[in-house]
Amino acid sequence: MDASVQECPGVGRLSRTASPAAITEAAARLRRGEVVAFPTETVYGLGALATCGEAVRRVFAIKHRPVDHPLIVHLASAQWLDDWARDVPPAARRLAQAFWPGPLTLVLPRQPCAADVVTGGQDTVALRVPAHAVARALIEAAGALVAPSANRFGRLSPTLAAHVEEQLGAEVDMILDGGPCTVGVESTIVSVLADGPALLRPGGITVAQIEALLGQQLGRGSPAVRTPGRLASHYAPGTGMEVLPGDELRQRIAALLGQGLRVAVMTLQCAPSSGAALERVQWHQMPAEAAEYARVLFATLHELDKAGFDRLLVEAPPEQPEWLAVRDRLARAASSGAPA
Ligand code: TXA
Ligand code: MG
Repeated sequence: MDASVQECPGVGRLSRTASPAAITEAAARLRRGEVVAFPTETVYGLGALATCGEAVRRVFAIKHRPVDHPLIVHLASAQWLDDWARDVPPAARRLAQAFWPGPLTLVLPRQPCAADVVTGGQDTVALRVPAHAVARALIEAAGALVAPSANRFGRLSPTLAAHVEEQLGAEVDMILDGGPCTVGVESTIVSVLADGPALLRPGGITVAQIEALLGQQLGRGSPAVRTPGRLASHYAPGTGMEVLPGDELRQRIAALLGQGLRVAVMTLQCAPSSGAALERVQWHQMPAEAAEYARVLFATLHELDKAGFDRLLVEAPPEQPEWLAVRDRLARAASSGAPA
């Protein structure tokens, strides 16, 4: 047994490599109303059968998520779309055809099988077909699954089975380990309702990709639509975090070191080769390309969060549109007053 396992006795207990046999067992558990965490291409999801009210309520309880914050229903294929949504407009069909399976969630008027417990009482339902082979095999075998990110409400999203185990291991019935998530940030959420297509959450599919397909700009969504991913504070590490321009990093580091604090820095630059104070700082160089940065973002935050620094400084990524989802997650992670 290696040192990390000894330090963290729960790790490895519930996680099972997502073999065909493990997927079959997970599907049987889900059909019995159990809660199973599973990999998607974006982040790990906390799965329950979307048609089992009791299991869905347990998902809210495990996450400590307010019950009026709706869940995404995960489907095995776009052919299930009309079972869950009604009056599907042509724009939604085009989006589904172009980006499913993949990291896009569509908010549409709901069919009756999307119960209040899933939609938070709203008359709409959020739907997505994940691209991860394990997720699709599981949904195919079990049926449509609700799956919020498998973290406590407001905390860092999991991109490894170990992240789920650390946060929720005591409460879930099984964790399917499908390795690291390849997209690394949650799906893009687009509502396609009477007020036209609108962006509710930036994510794995860029706004440019969606606008190019639709030939129109996305709106910003009605404030009446509840989307907790839009809370100012979300996706937060326990360590205090600040996002600041690259040219302000050195001054801020010096100020924090002056207060005797231990500092980690997530930067796009190389670690400086000189400077006495800077040698007492842990530098972590992030990828220079947006999709690659997104892929490792949460895993890096989990690592640095566990390392016991007093403060985490993050160099603000570029302003270009392809960085929207990364900037969104960083801003919310750095926002103070995170819900526990
Ligand atoms: O990539 C993802 O979407 C991941 C993986 C596991 O699929 N799931 C995920 O779920 O991020 P969750 O619960 O952490 O975020 C779901 C978001 C929330 O912001 C919620 O408000 C929004 O979807 N949502 C769900 N139903 C909605 C609805 N009817 N109207 C508006 N927003 C909705
Ligand atoms: Mg989430």
